[in-house]
Amino acid sequence: MTDHGSLYQGWRDDPLGYWREQASRIAWETAPSEVFDAAAGPYGRWFPDGRLNTSYNCLDRHVEAGAGDRPALVWDSAMTGEVVTHTYRELRDRVAKLAGALAAVGVGRGDRVVIYMPMVPEAAIAMLACARLGAVHSVVFGGFASSELATRIDATAPRVVIAASCGLEPGRVVEYKPVLDEALTLARHRPEACFVLQRPQAPAELMAGRDHDLLAAEAAASPHDPVPVQATDPLYILHTSGTTGRPKGIVRDNGGHAVALAASIPTIFGLSEGDVYWAASDVGWVVGHSYIVYAPLLAGLTSVMYEGKPVGTPDAAAFWRVIERHRVNVLFTAPTAIRAIRRQDPELDLKAEHDLSSLQAVFLAGERCDPPTAIWLQEQLDRPVIDNWWQTETGWPITARFRGGELTPFKPGSGGRPSPGFEVAALDDLGSPLAAGETGNLAIRLPLPPGCAPTLWGDDEGYRTSYLEDFPGWYRTGDAGRVDGDGDVWVLGRTDDIINVAGHRLSTGAMEEVLAAHPDVAECAVIGAPDPLKGELPTGLVVLKTGADRDPAAIAGELVAMVRERIGAVASFRTVLVVDQLPKTRSGKILRRTLRDLATGGPVQVPPTIEDPDVVDRLREAFGAVEAQAAR
Ligand code: COA
Ligand code: AMP
Repeated sequence: MTDHGSLYQGWRDDPLGYWREQASRIAWETAPSEVFDAAAGPYGRWFPDGRLNTSYNCLDRHVEAGAGDRPALVWDSAMTGEVVTHTYRELRDRVAKLAGALAAVGVGRGDRVVIYMPMVPEAAIAMLACARLGAVHSVVFGGFASSELATRIDATAPRVVIAASCGLEPGRVVEYKPVLDEALTLARHRPEACFVLQRPQAPAELMAGRDHDLLAAEAAASPHDPVPVQATDPLYILHTSGTTGRPKGIVRDNGGHAVALAASIPTIFGLSEGDVYWAASDVGWVVGHSYIVYAPLLAGLTSVMYEGKPVGTPDAAAFWRVIERHRVNVLFTAPTAIRAIRRQDPELDLKAEHDLSSLQAVFLAGERCDPPTAIWLQEQLDRPVIDNWWQTETGWPITARFRGGELTPFKPGSGGRPSPGFEVAALDDLGSPLAAGETGNLAIRLPLPPGCAPTLWGDDEGYRTSYLEDFPGWYRTGDAGRVDGDGDVWVLGRTDDIINVAGHRLSTGAMEEVLAAHPDVAECAVIGAPDPLKGELPTGLVVLKTGADRDPAAIAGELVAMVRERIGAVASFRTVLVVDQLPKTRSGKILRRTLRDLATGGPVQVPPTIEDPDVVDRLREAFGAVEAQAAR
């Protein structure tokens, strides 16, 4: 394997040849004769005439090659104390049977299936069963409330919903089925059937005629063969936060996705067949899709799926216990998880009780990793810590350090160098590339490589306006940052109203819509305030309507409850400041940048267009009072 420089140069010299070669990692029903069709979709489509089945490539192919007895998916639940291993053969057989059960209720190629499940093997089995049929799954993260689930049900119009009766969070059982039932009363669309995994911690009531017991249906079904689909057919839709309250339906295709993810395992992660990979994420997020389910299985690895937290289930040694127990070679997690562990075990004393000799490297992504956390972890573990930058839209790392060859230098705070396929630049506001080291809008030269979202669900035009219009010829990432003289990329944060809370991408616009719906609220803004554990936490500022004479603390409490109920616990929305005015320009635009500056407690940029400069001092006092309260 070559180092990053020659790998990247190989792609630069012959981009189509590079991807043609990577496509040979996949078993095609019909090999693509064309690598890229520039005329299709918002920016082109990869492998347009190829045909394949993703579940065949994840499962059957390895069984047929003699690896049927190799562990494919190891589920380790810190919540129940169970460990369950599925070999490639066992996983293929369960996926084929569940696909049979879905087909029996009419699910076929192109049909959508919403999956609302916690971290259980059946979540991966459900995803792969859809892939087997050429159906399109849409996984909804378990921490979202019923109205968010309803929005996603209406957006994808699924024929079937697959859910679990409950999820397990520290200290509480979260009943999923009532959330699903409520979502189905809120949604306009009606699925024809629901399949429910009954967990013993809280079995659900099933509605006759609509709901099926998932395990019983699987047991009774005949196995279904993989259905070959067009490489450009959608494999899944994953909704992610945009700048408005309406989430974006990110589409992933079958062919480009399989090729890009299969290629990422040896090049970026430096692993090969039989190695053990653990992405401590959730199947509800893109990292879970790509690196708990698809990439490890495409590459014939053993994937560890963990139900639990980095701390508190039961202690800060949970990660080291899982690594030791399953001989994990690469761990992928979010910086928040490492900060949580460090807070409880600052010298990493607990690691001494565990054999971590299998561990080769730790990959961190999902949010900006603060340099002290990266340095601390690398020193404590004496293993490379690899920050890598990506988005739900890209599906795999835009930048990283590459374990397939000699690692590029450790630069804490940088996301590393672009993966082959991505040309990254910082652009000024008019779209001209900036010199090395200058900060601007991070953008990726079109076309995006295989594996990246080719479009939004049913919305080519929305894709163009969201990502392609601002800087012609480039994909706008929405992140600000710079590229240094060595080509390393430094991501500083979003340029829009998306915030990142514990590695979870959330829209402040969606929270503002909830606050604005309160009868006493005249105006509001939600911003991300820095938080030492979760990176950012949402803070709401509200101005009450004239005549609203109720206790502001009571109103604040109601607003916190409303966000939890309508968006979900995952928003971690706990702070509301009731203020007399928001900072605005003379034309009435809320000065969010000024609010963010106030929240960070640093120097505040006050633009000359501000309507009333005095409001800044009053707000500074309000933020100061919150900080003082937090310190107590
Ligand atoms: N189903 C239901 N509720 C969920 C949930 C799920 N799948 N996931 C989270 N929640 C709830 C939590 O119970 C919590 O509820 P609470 O307000 O009643 O306590 C809330 O959503 C916030 O959850 P979380 O952000 O996970 O915070 P936490 O305080 O429970 O745990 C950490 C803190 C640091 C342990 C946790 O944030 C963590 O593990 N972070 C790593 C993030 C990560 O891996 N991100 C993936 C991106 S790659
Ligand atoms: P998501 O779509 O949930 O993966 O969130 C994508 C966003 O998370 C990016 O646009 C960045 O703002 C942020 N992000 C992800 N990984 C990194 C990283 N390694 N460094 C900095 N920011 C990151």
